[in-house]
Parts: sequence; C-alpha cells; structure tokens
Amino acid sequence: MMRIHHPRLSFSGTILAALALTLLTACSNTSRPSKEIIEYARSATPDNPETAEIYQRSCMACHGNGTSDAPLTGDQTAWQPRMEKGMDTLQNNVISGIGGMPPYGLCMDCNAAEFQALITFMAKPAQI
Ligand code: HEC
Repeated sequence: MMRIHHPRLSFSGTILAALALTLLTACSNTSRPSKEIIEYARSATPDNPETAEIYQRSCMACHGNGTSDAPLTGDQTAWQPRMEKGMDTLQNNVISGIGGMPPYGLCMDCNAAEFQALITFMAKPAQI
C-alpha cells in the first residue's frame, strides 16, 4: 500500500514546492516603485490636452498615487508585463474592470482611441 501511495504524495509535494517558489518569486518581483517614480507619477500628465483632461479626471487618482495598488504611471517594471498582454486585452480589462479597478477606469464616455492614448502614456517609462 505504502509503495503505491508514497510516489503520488511526493509528486504532489514537488508541485506544491514549485508553486510556492513561483509565488515567492512573483512576490519579490512586485517591489515598491522607487521614490523618484512615485514623485514622477504624482505630477506627470499627458502632452495632449484632451488626454490630459481625461487622465486627471479619471485615472490619476489611482495610477498617479503611490499608495494605490494600481500600476503607477511611468513605472516600467509594473507596466511591462501588462503591456505584454497586448493593447486589446488591456483595453478590454479597463472596460470590464480588473482587480481594484472599476469598469471603464471611471471614464464612462472614453472611446478606444482615448483608452489607448491613456494606456500608452501611463506605460511610458518615467523620464527621471
Ligand atoms: C479606482 C482606482 C483606479 C482608477 C480610477 C483607474 N484605475 Fe486602472 N487600475 C487600477 C488598479 C488597482 C489596477 C490593477 C488591477 C489588477 O491587476 O489587479 C489597474 C490596472 C490598470 C490597467 C492594467 C490592466 C491589466 O490588464 O493589467 C490598465 C490598462 C489601466 N488600469 C488603465 C486605466 C485607465 C486608462 C484609467 C482611467 C480611464 C484607469 N485605469 C483608472 C486602479 C484604477
């Protein structure tokens, strides 16, 4: 009996260990952004006045705020893995809401081009 069960146990043990390792690595990767990035995010705003107006009205409260869970504007470490999902996926996630972000990122009247401009701006690495 033991001979049948033991290999199975150690197999799932290996999977659990691998999972724990993955989670640990994932955690250590989400290090807090630097003071410079937090400062950049607090004041950065898009060049285009219309995009800037929407950004300040809808997105900045979270994405410009170092105490929020949102990927900070200019924080390349936070944005790169998200950009890898592709612009379409990101836009769909904003529209339906994801994690702590409400649907539409609170911009109910934003169109696809506007979301794209906002995302491109926020994902642009901070000039610091
Ligand atoms: C109430 C706070 C809040 C507001 C307002 C907000 N966001 Fe977010 N946003 C978040 C949080 C928190 C996340 C991280 C969600 C997660 O992955 O758990 C996020 C993630 C994102 C992502 C990444 C989604 C993904 O699939 O990884 C994009 C893109 C984004 N926000 C765009 C926007 C845009 C554009 C606006 C303004 C129109 C906006 N957000 C407004 C809190 C906010």
